[in-house]
Amino acid sequence: MQARANARTNRQWQVARLPDSGGLTGGGLKLSADVFGQGEVDVPEPGAGEVLIRACWFSPDPMNHAWVRGMPGKFDPIAIGQPMKGGVAGRVLASNHPDWNEGDGVTGFLEWQDYTVSDGTDRLGAPLQRVPSGVPLESGLATLGMTGLCAWLGLTDIGRPQPGDVVLVSGASGAIGSIAGQIARIAGARAIGIARGRAKCDLIASLGFDAVIDASEGDLAGQIAATAPDGVDVFFDNVGGPMLDAALLNLAHGARVVVCGATAHYDGPTPVTNHLMLAMRGATMAGFFYFDHVARWAEGRRRLGEWLAEGRIREALDIAEGFAAVPDAALAQFEGRAAGRKLVRIAEDPFA
Ligand SMILES: NC(=O)c1ccc[n+]([C@@H]2O[C@H](COP(=O)([O-])OP(=O)(O)OC[C@H]3O[C@@H](n4cnc5c(N)ncnc54)[C@H](OP(=O)(O)O)[C@@H]3O)[C@@H](O)[C@H]2O)c1
Repeated sequence: MQARANARTNRQWQVARLPDSGGLTGGGLKLSADVFGQGEVDVPEPGAGEVLIRACWFSPDPMNHAWVRGMPGKFDPIAIGQPMKGGVAGRVLASNHPDWNEGDGVTGFLEWQDYTVSDGTDRLGAPLQRVPSGVPLESGLATLGMTGLCAWLGLTDIGRPQPGDVVLVSGASGAIGSIAGQIARIAGARAIGIARGRAKCDLIASLGFDAVIDASEGDLAGQIAATAPDGVDVFFDNVGGPMLDAALLNLAHGARVVVCGATAHYDGPTPVTNHLMLAMRGATMAGFFYFDHVARWAEGRRRLGEWLAEGRIREALDIAEGFAAVPDAALAQFEGRAAGRKLVRIAEDPFA
């Protein structure tokens, strides 16, 4: 494979200022446009044992807030003026590393810049992930990336859907939810997705969910009861707040509640009041954090890769074009404007 010639300008998104919101217990998780600053740095040269990566895709994630401000015990904050970090998919342009060859597809948690050097690990110390030959780079950030793996981990390790179970997914039109419902169906369960608005409900239906609930029509608890009259066996929750409360009222006996995320808490903590239903229905509720499960990633990626190749998982990608689109794409997630896996294509694949 021969890479197309590249103009070697290394654009970079940097932290211009800290977000006003201080985290889950400090006023929310939202970013604002002025957190993003643009800069330019030299293209790095790979040293011994290193690879040079050409970034082609960035994945804005709700986790971007944590990337910038840090998360005690998990991530250090990024200093002002330093490059932002996040999900990146790209190609190895040059390699002095025994495990990587020129042209390999690669993903990892890296600086949001055109060109990056790595010793085979990403900025969280996790190994760079290979995008299998023939798989588009963007799938390395969608089905085979954090979002697909969160759906797989949450369902496989906590939700454990059985054939015939009812699996309810909140935030079902989002990156993780859209895949979680499809994995539930692969397990033989009946997948019900919750989204806000007709367009997002149509998106979920097009992915093969068995039923959709439009939360914008109100009376969510009543809608869930009507759609799942025998109760919900697995609730895969991306939203928290009132959606979690409505789902708790509708649990089947022995249900499992998977806490993946809490988009309803972007503006700050939101009370949940129906937790006694866990006792009444003999149900369990547990969460997971993706970065605590590195040892499970390889198996998840293998399973997800098979399902993707077999067409049993379909990707809903919401693609923004160009380097300049990064801040708006990141903010779109916090404002409910994204549908599916939000990605930004910053450059063409040089080996396509
Ligand atoms: N546990 C982990 O390790 C882990 C890892 C990554 C992400 N997460 C979390 O998992 C959740 C889902 O992540 P994702 O990447 O799938 O996010 P996403 O693509 O942005 O999807 C989230 C969905 O939540 C819905 N939503 C409901 N209330 C919302 C609100 N007030 N503001 C914005 N959206 C709202 C939106 O759909 P509608 O508009 O249709 O409601 C949106 O599609 C997030 O909370 C994220 O922080 C957890």
